Amino acid sequence: MSNSNSEFFQYPKVSPVFIRDMCAKPGFKMFVLRCGGADSPVVGFCGANFASPPTAELGPICVAGGLRKRGYGEELAKHALDFLKQNGITKVFVKVKRSNVAAQKFFKSLDFKVTEQIICGGEEALVMRYGKD
Ligand SMILES: CC(C)(COP(=O)(O)OP(=O)(O)OC[C@H]1O[C@@H](n2cnc3c(N)ncnc32)[C@H](O)[C@@H]1OP(=O)(O)O)[C@@H](O)C(=O)NCCC(=O)NCCS
Repeated sequence: MSNSNSEFFQYPKVSPVFIRDMCAKPGFKMFVLRCGGADSPVVGFCGANFASPPTAELGPICVAGGLRKRGYGEELAKHALDFLKQNGITKVFVKVKRSNVAAQKFFKSLDFKVTEQIICGGEEALVMRYGKD
């Protein structure tokens, strides 16, 4: 799923190996939503990098192509945000490619607000923030 959606991600190297390596690092959590038991197909995933409290970065987040717009992304993101809150994280940000309008609308629906424009992975991107200053 990460390979087939790599054009959406703010970092150019989001691949199965990248995700496996991230999961092994302290201060990083990857939440995976499946459609059944432990061996059932993956519906989506959402990472959270909370190695530098009180701020954390959400992502990468992805829902399988045929299963979008059914609330799974929101379920994943809210689960990750709850986890971060329980771990004392009060401020969360995401980096979203400027071209990824669907993801911007998705994060806006979760109360993230655009605060900065940056270049990330050689492309224009927006930083969107959630939480109190
Ligand atoms: C972004 C992504 C994770 C959203 O997942 P999803 O399961 O489709 O999102 P949800 O169904 O939970 O949507 C929640 C809300 O977000 C907004 N939203 C989601 N997708 C949208 C779209 N394509 N266009 C406009 N608004 C959208 C809507 O407000 C939606 O609420 P509604 O359905 O009541 O209108 C999914 O589109 C995806 O995997 N995209 C490819 C990977 C990607 O871009 N990741 C983000 C990189 S920063």
